[in-house]
Amino acid sequence: MNRNILILLLAAALALSACSAAAAPQPTPTPDPIIAQGQAVFNARCATCHALVPDTIIIGPSLYGVATRAETRVDGLSAEEYIMMSILRPGDYVVDGFNNVMITNFAKELTGEELDSLVAFLMTLK
Ligand code: HEC
Repeated sequence: MNRNILILLLAAALALSACSAAAAPQPTPTPDPIIAQGQAVFNARCATCHALVPDTIIIGPSLYGVATRAETRVDGLSAEEYIMMSILRPGDYVVDGFNNVMITNFAKELTGEELDSLVAFLMTLK
């Protein structure tokens, strides 16, 4: 009888330690280097006019949720294509309620790699 109780206690202790091992915090995933680069380009070039928090206008509209909006902005353009066009030719589609004052020389100033990483970063803003 006593031995059975001991075995039960042991089993319970084992089950408990297995549980706490499973609940151990997961290591934070390393950020995607391309997205991190895009965020750095954004901070350097775009953050002066665009906030990333909702309903906050600096000079341009907040880009919070832009990846979702971008899907339906222009017929025939995917979200990536719309975001790319917004950066390279901002005057082609002007967001309602805003003036066409976005800087237009990004096509010359940004490298292809910077541009791709920027679009990858903005596509994470769902
Ligand atoms: C001088 C201020 C200014 C800077 C700098 C600027 N923008 Fe803009 N941006 C605007 C304004 C104003 C609009 C709204 C008018 C329009 O659509 O062109 C806009 C619109 C946009 C849109 C469309 C948003 C939507 O909801 O459809 C995107 C995407 C965008 N900008 C991305 C960028 C990125 C990426 C950069 C940096 C490479 C950048 N902008 C730099 C002012 C700026």
